[in-house]
Amino acid sequence: MSIDTTPQGKFLYLSQADVEAAGLDMKTMIGLLETAFREKGNGRIEMPPKPGIHTQPDAFLHAMPAYIPALKSAGIKWVGGYPENFKRGLPYITGLLVLNDVETGIPYAVMDCAWITAYRTAAASALSAKYLARPESHVAGILACGVQGRTNLEALATLFKITRAFAYDNRRDVQDRFVADMQKKLGFEIVGVTNPRDAVVTSDMVVTSGPILKHPTPTIRAGWLPRGAFASAVDFDSYWTPTAQAEFDKVTTDDHAQFQYYKAAGYFQQTPEPCADLGEIVAGKKPGRERADERTLAANLGLALDDMAVAPEVFQLARARGLGTWLPL
Ligand SMILES: NC(=O)c1ccc[n+]([C@@H]2O[C@H](COP(=O)([O-])OP(=O)(O)OC[C@H]3O[C@@H](n4cnc5c(N)ncnc54)[C@H](O)[C@@H]3O)[C@@H](O)[C@H]2O)c1
Repeated sequence: MSIDTTPQGKFLYLSQADVEAAGLDMKTMIGLLETAFREKGNGRIEMPPKPGIHTQPDAFLHAMPAYIPALKSAGIKWVGGYPENFKRGLPYITGLLVLNDVETGIPYAVMDCAWITAYRTAAASALSAKYLARPESHVAGILACGVQGRTNLEALATLFKITRAFAYDNRRDVQDRFVADMQKKLGFEIVGVTNPRDAVVTSDMVVTSGPILKHPTPTIRAGWLPRGAFASAVDFDSYWTPTAQAEFDKVTTDDHAQFQYYKAAGYFQQTPEPCADLGEIVAGKKPGRERADERTLAANLGLALDDMAVAPEVFQLARARGLGTWLPL
């Protein structure tokens, strides 16, 4: 990426509406993440595990820097996740992202990160599914129909010929809106279910996207997930009972160091050790799915790498469309 023509002494501010209006599509995002994870698997990125502060129980404010030389991308995301925000009518995930010129370090863009977080997380799920789900997978189960539930279904539908999805949320109004909106958007049948089990037992690909809780009451039990199915645990281990997790033949993550960091912080206490991270799989250093009957899990924690893979492209598109506001440094 060239930012040579960026006005000197200025940076581009992109609001959430600007970021969305930039119009980066899911297929491109999945491709950008694939490049970034290949680079990671080959040891060519810089990304320290994310440090955080915690102002409320189960909430976080995380600093997420990464440098991807191949994409000439460097920057940091400062993101908050507050599970109780919905009670105030506020989003769970909010924050800002800063992009820096890789040659001078000078910031050239500041943007809202909610849209990017929503979409890049889903793109990472789909990328994991590309390597870990059966290619003919066509039934999806979405447990928790919030922002991630929506983007994850869209991302899976980008790579797989989904013909039917089951949707479960413990808030009926949220689930009903999800079913109506997503059916219209994606054009296949979406069945709202009142029992979470019904979103799992006949699904080829299951996404859990509820709140991340340190002391959750897990829902999915052993015997629910069919043989040969893939799962993406966007909400860490919150949704899966230990016995259900023990049934996975292959547990993967997006970054081993980050996984150990979360483990030390009290998550994933009963989760089998990941046998591979997504970078190792995309780079061909570790296998993805090896047999049709394997149960596979992607426990992707969300990396700065994901954000820095897509943010420069959002900047370029926004710039080409004249979006945003130039501000003095
Ligand atoms: N791994 C990652 O990279 C990553 C990135 C972003 C967000 N997340 C996580 O994804 C989760 C969802 O984020 P979001 O932005 O979609 O939040 P959101 O508030 O939009 O959606 C959460 C949904 O979960 C529902 N819910 C709560 N408890 C439930 C239960 N027991 N069963 C079913 N549904 C339940 C809520 O009604 C809501 O619809 C959060 O835990 C967030 O921290 C993970």
